[in-house]
Amino acid sequence: MEQSDKNQTADIGLIGLAVMGQNLVLNMADNGFTVAVFNRTVSKVDDFLNDAAKGYENVLGGHSIEEFIALLKRPRKVMLMVKAGNVVDQFIDLVLPHLEQGDLIIDGGNSHFPDTTRRTKHLAEKGILYIGTGVSGGEEGARRGPSIMPGGNPKAWPLVKDIFQAIAAKTPDGDACCDWVGEEGAGHYIKMVHNGIEYGDMQLICEAYQLMKDGLGMTPDEMHHVFAEWNTGELDSYLIEITRDILQFKDEDGTPLVENILDTAGQKGTGKWTGISALDLGVPVTLIGEAVFSRCLSAMKDERVQASKLLTGPKAAFSGDKTAFVEDIRRALLASKIVSYAQGYMLMREAAQEMGWHLNFGGIALMWRGGCIIRSVFLGKIKAAFDKNPSLTNLLLDDYFREVTGRCQDSWRRVVAQSVTMGIPVPAFATALTFFDGYRSERLPANLLQAQRDYFGAHTYERINKPRGEFFHTNWTGTGGKTSASTYQV
Ligand code: 6PG
Repeated sequence: MEQSDKNQTADIGLIGLAVMGQNLVLNMADNGFTVAVFNRTVSKVDDFLNDAAKGYENVLGGHSIEEFIALLKRPRKVMLMVKAGNVVDQFIDLVLPHLEQGDLIIDGGNSHFPDTTRRTKHLAEKGILYIGTGVSGGEEGARRGPSIMPGGNPKAWPLVKDIFQAIAAKTPDGDACCDWVGEEGAGHYIKMVHNGIEYGDMQLICEAYQLMKDGLGMTPDEMHHVFAEWNTGELDSYLIEITRDILQFKDEDGTPLVENILDTAGQKGTGKWTGISALDLGVPVTLIGEAVFSRCLSAMKDERVQASKLLTGPKAAFSGDKTAFVEDIRRALLASKIVSYAQGYMLMREAAQEMGWHLNFGGIALMWRGGCIIRSVFLGKIKAAFDKNPSLTNLLLDDYFREVTGRCQDSWRRVVAQSVTMGIPVPAFATALTFFDGYRSERLPANLLQAQRDYFGAHTYERINKPRGEFFHTNWTGTGGKTSASTYQV
């Protein structure tokens, strides 16, 4: 068939044939959709058609933007799988002159949510629909079923719902791990929080590994068995599963590969964005913050090597029951994970309120249940908690999670205390426990803090025996005036 005969036959078009883009195209094609493809380096179009997409009648190549657009059914749907940032704007500018009112542009990269909000509004003014969607699950997910988190212009959702839900991962109950997230940048916001939680989960696992390795002297093979065991219970998840496999993987010389990898973590920025958003909104998302900073500290390798020669610490070795302590670590990990997700949900709740988005929290847990990097049995429990009580204030207050933190608490405290005694850093375990203790405190020492602020800056305070919103100033030294500072918030 001539290319012109294929005009207006594609259900969707995809620009950006890097590995994620290619795999999404093949996934869509496998699900019976006709997909047009285009790439800035045009030779990649034919490379793809002649290689990975060979034999797929329903994958069509465009060798110019005009040819690509002509292949699309109306209303046209153009999905961008390109690098986040300016590149997305450049491609929007490239396709825009070829589109008409009611057509749709979708950005499936890891864009920063304010950019998605800006693009949704800007394109709506031109009559073009826009979706910014998180796509999680890496290469394999994109090919076999990712978790897809779309947000943007709500009018766009019916146009791609069938395609997205068909290609998305499915939960064990058969539900698609893809649903409408919300307005403007909501989809990318949720993906950003997903990535922040991913950072937190990874850091918790790394702390458990270091405790077993340096605290208990366990070998990678021994830890492999521990993670294999953990993956059969409450911690059953993709990240525990890959950790199990990583620990057993041998280098060419037969030694465990993991021990030959330099201990400096990389990061592309989505965890940092989560921390920044938490600070902006005033939500104590401490665990993700610690996870980001732990990566930063790990990256200061040369400085740490120097410091390790100058700063001494305890040499205390673990002398108790090792098997029991491994179980303590498992429980500390589970309880800390609950705090991390509780904090992530606190952040999403605040963001929804601040931006006027209508987020479905149970639906988000369902989207993360399968396909994505943080997929786990645990997310099924979060979904159940929101199904039971859609307006749940905090996950920590749900009956199931209350029972788990109650059951794990003694172990959690033993692990943090023992780590401190042994001089092994556990920033994520410790901040989770500290948050838990802070959150369940009726009274914190902020009374003293308010007194200090009022003492040096006349910043005023509220009193326990007066209604909220009534502010007082005391002349603490007898030399200050009666005038208080204004109560503005930054
Ligand atoms: C996913 C991942 C992915 C992310 C990588 C790398 O959901 O598939 O979150 O989107 O880009 O995990 O992230 P870092 O380089 O920041 O670790």
